[in-house]
Amino acid sequence: MLGGETGRMTLRRMPFAYGERRSLDWHEGAREFSQIVNAASLAMPYLEPYLIATMRKARPAISDPTLAAELDLYCGQEAAHYRQHRLYNDTLKELGGETIEAIEATLATDYARLGEKKSLKFNLAYAEGFESMALAIGHMLVEDREYFFAGSDSAAASLVLWHFVEEIEHKRVAFDVFEHLVGGYFWRVWGLLYATGHIFWRTRGGYQALLKRQGLWRNWGSRLKLAGLLAHIFASLTPKMLRILHPRYHPMKIADPDWALAWARLHASDALGAARLDTGRLGAAAPIPCPI
Ligand SMILES: [Fe+2]
Ligand SMILES: [Fe+2]
Repeated sequence: MLGGETGRMTLRRMPFAYGERRSLDWHEGAREFSQIVNAASLAMPYLEPYLIATMRKARPAISDPTLAAELDLYCGQEAAHYRQHRLYNDTLKELGGETIEAIEATLATDYARLGEKKSLKFNLAYAEGFESMALAIGHMLVEDREYFFAGSDSAAASLVLWHFVEEIEHKRVAFDVFEHLVGGYFWRVWGLLYATGHIFWRTRGGYQALLKRQGLWRNWGSRLKLAGLLAHIFASLTPKMLRILHPRYHPMKIADPDWALAWARLHASDALGAARLDTGRLGAAAPIPCPI
């Protein structure tokens, strides 16, 4: 189990180094996937602070001190995620201009509205729905890491894989908080459907705008590649999403992938190496070799 036998999460400092950016594509061989990931990354500095704010509102009502401590670690991991994504997103802005400003403005409005207008019950259901989806996406990205990341920019790939290893690591917290304070199948499924529909819709709008900016949206070769990529994603993701609908679903029933465990061991011995994975050797969790 990630995080050790006690289930504790690890707060990690990640020294990603992006270098000078000449293109919005961090994966030259997969420009469409580059923009899907960029669109998702742009959401993180809005989505993850909303998750943290929701959890902090819930915290005074939690009577289990172990769960309260896990909630604090969860908030620590999510805070590290959105700060790292903000640094990454800053590298996109010079090339993304008003396209990125418009995407961010939409996300800022969405999450301000959810936080202010919706009940804590709804927001806890959204948080649990998002986390269950993120666990499914994490398993997909780790299982298919060579398909998605082979030959890509190391820092961007390492950012995404670090983020999802930690999504796997804190898989139980939002579920346990939801069950502790809200509970019920209807609310859990409503949160899953709403959060999944919302983030997929906004990510689609984001990558569509970015691909338009790059002149790829009306390029048939690019659209065919995008269709093939989306077919691969949904073929992998659909069974992982369907199991969340089981009335007895619990994230702890889903075993952690071996590679995620190997990544955690790599980070424990070589934090710098975990931030600069060798995307030519993703079968292992291995850093780019240092020049001699
Ligand atoms: Fe996160
Ligand atoms: Fe998360």
